[in-house]
Amino acid sequence: MIIRQNKKREALSMEFPVIGGILLVYTATVFFQSEQNWNVKSVLSFSLLISLHAVMYLFREHIFKEKIALYLFLQGIIIFSLSVVIKGNYQAAYLGLIPMIIAQSIQLWNDIRKSFYSASYFYLIYCATIIFNNGYTELLHSISLLLLISFSILVYGHLYSNQVRAFEKTQRLLVELETANDKLEEMARESERQKIARDIHDTLLQGMAGILMKMEALDIHLANGNMEKSQMIAKKIADHTRESLKESREIIQGLRLHHENRNDLGEAIEREIEIFRRQAAVKIKLNKTGSSYSSIVFEKNIAYIFREILTNITKHAKATQVNIIVSLEYEQVIIRVEDNGIGFDYQHFHSIYGHYGILGMQERAKAINGKLIIESEKQCGTCITLIVKI
Ligand SMILES: Nc1ncnc2c1ncn2[C@@H]1O[C@H](COP(=O)(O)OP(=O)(O)OP(=O)(O)O)[C@@H](O)[C@H]1O
Ligand SMILES: [Mg+2]
Repeated sequence: MIIRQNKKREALSMEFPVIGGILLVYTATVFFQSEQNWNVKSVLSFSLLISLHAVMYLFREHIFKEKIALYLFLQGIIIFSLSVVIKGNYQAAYLGLIPMIIAQSIQLWNDIRKSFYSASYFYLIYCATIIFNNGYTELLHSISLLLLISFSILVYGHLYSNQVRAFEKTQRLLVELETANDKLEEMARESERQKIARDIHDTLLQGMAGILMKMEALDIHLANGNMEKSQMIAKKIADHTRESLKESREIIQGLRLHHENRNDLGEAIEREIEIFRRQAAVKIKLNKTGSSYSSIVFEKNIAYIFREILTNITKHAKATQVNIIVSLEYEQVIIRVEDNGIGFDYQHFHSIYGHYGILGMQERAKAINGKLIIESEKQCGTCITLIVKI
């Protein structure tokens, strides 16, 4: 918005001196004409031609687009015609319009050779007019006058166009800045969307998947009339649901305000292992050393990655043995989980629509500058290592 307003102001500031000059030329010519023998026909023709000259200048970009040579050629013809219609009283028009159009051509071409050709063309027109109106006697005197005026207009034009260029450069920079800003905002929004999607995946979705697995077990026990076991599983379902609700509330809380709770990563990892132990019928070998404290962002991301690794083993691996190594040192966290399950072809793995666990793990690892190494092959088990420098 600001830029658009500035552009408008810029255009006006560039057009103002030229249009002012044309008006001045017009007033001076009509004034001198009225002093002498007032000729309505020639004043009318002069007015029409000079209006055409001004309109062509104002709408040059729309009418002529990139055809600068054609534009300058036609302006030359119009200026020559002005002298014909206002015969004998052409000096103001010539001394005003020709230097202005030369300055304009220099600005338009921005090229010395082409500017020189254009200036020569306008000088020729000027000479032709002098000869046409006054014969050869006036030529020398008029040319020196025109050279003088052209020189001062060129100096002014040069300074002015430098100013305009500097202004345009600032405008371009402003546009670039605004675009970069928009991009940054979009990226921030996108990363926030991804973060919410990951959080929902790793809490609500995983919670529901766990509850569903228990419900299926409950169904089997109920069908077999095993009431004691069924009651136990029903209680587990209630616990799991409560836990999922708590986590969902925490997510909402986290979205509402940046909560700076301090969690213990060691405790979070043990909690996840406990849940995993209850869900998957596998032998777990745990080797845990150290206890690190870090920011909530690190802890939450590491804990969710760990949870996804274990949930995937429960859901997909069909493993009988899981080895977990957790090293929580002050400067570095290393987590390594190895299962002896069916594995999968990770080399050719692409995340499938609706399955975002591995993608989420990779994004979380990246967010905390961590390294996630996934090694897996069909029938050879899976080993996932996470290394995070704190
Ligand atoms: N430990 C594992 N053992 C065997 N296969 C696995 C293991 N971990 C992941 N996979 C395979 O990788 C696929 C992708 O896992 P990912 O976690 O991205 O999605 P998902 O678990 O299927 O769904 P979601 O995590 O979104 O609920 C799984 O569908 C599974 O085939
Ligand atoms: Mg998964």
